[in-house]
Amino acid sequence: MRKASVALVGLGGWGATQSLPAIAEAGNLELVTWYDANPETVERHREQIPVTPAGSFDEVVGNPEVEGVILVVPNHVHASLTVQAAGCGKHVWVEKPIANTLAEADSMIQACEDAGVILQVGHSLRRTQGMRRIKQMIQDGKVGEVASVEAHQSHKGGWTVTPEAWRWYNDKCPGGPLNLLGIHQIDNMHYLIGPSAEVTAMMGKKCLPCETDEISQVLIRFKNGVLGQIGDTYITPAKTFIAVYGTAGWLEFDFLRGRLTYFDTDGKPEDMPVESTNLIADELREFGECILTGKRPETGGAEARAAVAVMEAAIESARTGKTVKI
Ligand SMILES: NC(=O)c1ccc[n+]([C@@H]2O[C@H](COP(=O)([O-])OP(=O)(O)OC[C@H]3O[C@@H](n4cnc5c(N)ncnc54)[C@H](O)[C@@H]3O)[C@@H](O)[C@H]2O)c1
Repeated sequence: MRKASVALVGLGGWGATQSLPAIAEAGNLELVTWYDANPETVERHREQIPVTPAGSFDEVVGNPEVEGVILVVPNHVHASLTVQAAGCGKHVWVEKPIANTLAEADSMIQACEDAGVILQVGHSLRRTQGMRRIKQMIQDGKVGEVASVEAHQSHKGGWTVTPEAWRWYNDKCPGGPLNLLGIHQIDNMHYLIGPSAEVTAMMGKKCLPCETDEISQVLIRFKNGVLGQIGDTYITPAKTFIAVYGTAGWLEFDFLRGRLTYFDTDGKPEDMPVESTNLIADELREFGECILTGKRPETGGAEARAAVAVMEAAIESARTGKTVKI
């Protein structure tokens, strides 16, 4: 079977530990080169990666062997690298969020459309078996009429953020934990419930010296009348869950423990078996399929843009104290 030839760009915390092994595990991708803007990071990985690194991003996108780029770089550079790669005819896979603003997201979508290349965004959590089962059980009527949805996603990563890190600054990571963590749950809710109509949010700080907020609470009214709530912090021990409440029961998925529980109309709990999979390998395998077959990715520009619209509205709502329409 032919494999799609890709370049990995960004070998920081996530790129080196998750994306690099996932490219190998995907099975339909061949890493032909890689690049990081930090020369020390390049030196650290040079021995371990069996293909030659590029000396610049221009060299990556100018390489005729490269069909697609996998961008695992800070959020504020997603747009410029995507637009450049698309302009050189390269397919793009970029980590979530697609970008920090709708204007940037739109420029990326337009550039990829104009070039006729794939744009896929790493909204990985909807790919968990727990999320897939919740979606199916809602469709099968197991929870009846869905009334509300609630999610929380936190970890204590904020304590290690220094002024050298992009996560410190509002212009590089607006919204703090909503941008880094809650964006997954916005996408999960769009996947389960449908599009958002309006957003009300509060954001705040308690502990950290960085510019960005470290606590956020977001309320969403969906177009179909369902109400949603997403809580995030960047200062408390890790917790990630989603719960969907309906007239005939409710479902709760704990992502970290891999536990899905169905509570029936009398509140009686039933644990449902769910297997864990390598979500990153799964989404990169889909990128390979898209390159090889022309298939459209599940989370392309439109889905990722919808998540950023909620994030941007939440930041505005927190700033103005008003509800913001999408
Ligand atoms: N899917 C998830 O659950 C998940 C988890 C963590 C991070 N992420 C995403 O992954 C991306 C990277 O996050 P991270 O934690 O690895 O950040 P990081 O700061 O640890 O690493 C970023 C790397 O990109 C490099 N870089 C910066 N600008 C560059 C440029 N112009 N060209 C090439 N390389 C450049 C840096 O030198 C660094 O090595 C972000 O978009 C983040 O949101 C996703």
